[in-house]
Amino acid sequence: MKIVRSFILLGLTLTLLSVWGCTKKETPEVVREEPIQPIPLKVDYDPEKVELGKMLYFDPRLSKSGFISCNSCHNLATGGVDNLPRSIGHKWQFGGINAPTVLNSRYNIAQFWDGRAKDLKEQAGGPIENPVEMAFSHEMAVKVIQSIPQYVERFKKVYGTDQIDIDKITDAIAAFEETLITPNSRFDQWLRGDDNALTAEEKEGYQLFKEKGCITCHNGIGVGGNMFQKFGVVKPYERDTKTLGRYEVTKNEADKYVFKVPILRNVELTYPYFHDGSTYSLSEAVNIMAEYQLGIELTPEETRKIVAFLKTLTGEQPRIVYPVLPPSTEKTPKPTPAD
Ligand code: HEC
Ligand code: HEC
Repeated sequence: MKIVRSFILLGLTLTLLSVWGCTKKETPEVVREEPIQPIPLKVDYDPEKVELGKMLYFDPRLSKSGFISCNSCHNLATGGVDNLPRSIGHKWQFGGINAPTVLNSRYNIAQFWDGRAKDLKEQAGGPIENPVEMAFSHEMAVKVIQSIPQYVERFKKVYGTDQIDIDKITDAIAAFEETLITPNSRFDQWLRGDDNALTAEEKEGYQLFKEKGCITCHNGIGVGGNMFQKFGVVKPYERDTKTLGRYEVTKNEADKYVFKVPILRNVELTYPYFHDGSTYSLSEAVNIMAEYQLGIELTPEETRKIVAFLKTLTGEQPRIVYPVLPPSTEKTPKPTPAD
């Protein structure tokens, strides 16, 4: 009898504990009610697929020259960008537009400045084939990867087949990119309730960011990335009139000079700014925004405070362990850097 009773008691305790455990897990975090939300501290992922995607991200053999990888232009040591106005691609050709960061790109409503790729997977096929970027073909990229037994082994483990195709390559790369988040910035610490995470000046900068109207376009988890807007709302932007933005996708006259509002997370690291990379100065970028998007002029003090706030958006950078890539084989097509 006693034994039965203790079993029942034990059962009850365990049930209670597990219920408590569940509710504890599901309790939403307490976050300040603001138009910007913190980046989750971690995301769930499939480790085998992400490791494979990481290898491909760093593998220059996905380019015609055998020299350019995703990381060449989206360098994870420098905020996921190349810090150049326009990227250098195959045979030192210059691309037509500034490279946005891959960090937190999972929070973009669509990929590219004009949003022409619906998600990261669709995006990842672009640069491999782009003649001024990696200048390869999907067919050749698949041939190269398929010729390397250690890759074939990994694909088999993740996708259950040794038939590699571009769909699986881009799927794995996208899975890796999904993990490239930068949580726990000082601003996020403040959002989660730590009053001391920001200085008085930074808090004032955030108030200005809201009061002046920056927040209408730069909001949400990425502080941008969730809408398309015209660059030059109140005054035409003259530095680049050739890049038409969203118009290239929709052919809708109203979409001329409309671009995806960029994510401002880590903006301190992702200079130079704008789709034309026309300034390395964050203060100048802020002043241009005030003038062209809002039709106002900021005092030097206001600009300084807003910039101070923007720098609090720098989060923990992904801690990447540089992958060791399997060697090519005799069957691997040779790189042709001079073609
Ligand atoms: C030669 C430089 C270069 C290489 C190599 C390159 N990219 Fe890019 N990437 C760019 C540029 C430039 C853009 C912006 C193009 C546009 O918007 O039209 C871009 C855009 C992106 C975006 C969209 C981000 C956003 O906010 O819209 C992602 C994601 C991305 N690249 C990932 C990759 C991946 C994955 C690879 C490797 C398969 C890669 N890139 C290779 C230069 C490069
Ligand atoms: C009407 C919408 C809108 C408003 C308001 C707005 N922005 Fe922007 N912001 C954009 C768009 C669109 C871009 C991209 C422009 C481009 O390069 O084509 C941008 C780009 C930026 C950039 C450059 C980011 C990068 O990585 O290149 C910064 C910094 C910035 N905005 C800060 C601000 C600040 C600060 C304010 C308030 C003073 C503000 N923005 C107001 C829409 C807006």
